[in-house]
Amino acid sequence: MARRKIIAGNWKMNMTPTEAVALVDTLKPLVVNDDVDVVFCVPAIDIIPAMEAAKGSNIAIGAENLYFEDKGAYTGEISPAMLVDAGVKYVIIGHSERREYFAETDETVNKKVLKAFAYGLTPIICCGETLTQREQGITIDWIRQQIKIAFLNVTEEQAKKAVIAYEPIWAIGTGKVATTEQAEEVCAAIRACIKELYGAETAEAIRIQYGGSVSASSAPELFAQPDIDGGLVGGASLKPDFGKIVNYNK
Ligand code: 13P
Repeated sequence: MARRKIIAGNWKMNMTPTEAVALVDTLKPLVVNDDVDVVFCVPAIDIIPAMEAAKGSNIAIGAENLYFEDKGAYTGEISPAMLVDAGVKYVIIGHSERREYFAETDETVNKKVLKAFAYGLTPIICCGETLTQREQGITIDWIRQQIKIAFLNVTEEQAKKAVIAYEPIWAIGTGKVATTEQAEEVCAAIRACIKELYGAETAEAIRIQYGGSVSASSAPELFAQPDIDGGLVGGASLKPDFGKIVNYNK
């Protein structure tokens, strides 16, 4: 069975609750595409108003992070139960910005992935190499390690439902999109790694996104690749252009 595409916006630290409602209202009619799962991953404080604004549309609201404990004395953190209660279905885990600025590691990513699954949330698990690593020729080794650690103790049934976002760090927010060949090469390598870990059926089921300066002009070719099942979109997800990205196949 063909994998269903999943195109997600990552709003990062943008949009006040008031702005979030306005953006959802603007994008709602533009992101209709029955062939694609559409997700807006928004700041925690925007989740409830965005959810309200998205009611009756095809937009699922996701979170940008969660904490790996159930509850308790973790000032400032958001628990998985809070996300579930708010109606969230997807959560980005291990974005390179969280790894760089908030000391997330492959180990904390793994804890968060396990916790997300335990609560029925679908993790969008991020991986990606730096420009130095690409130039050193260690991209695939690096990504395989990130994936293997992220999926430690994740069951086959869970892995089938996971989403992986391959985001080369040098392509994020730089306007420097990876070439289609570079993106497909790594996404195919990720699928091969999942096949090693779980077998062919899981590798065929899991969805792998590309992220990093995705635009309305680059999306159609990227998303047409055999191992690229959609995108994780930063800057362009805050603009009407996101409608064009979601309708890349029209
Ligand atoms: P840009 O699309 O702004 O490059 O951001 C990509 C990203 O980090 C999505 O998570």
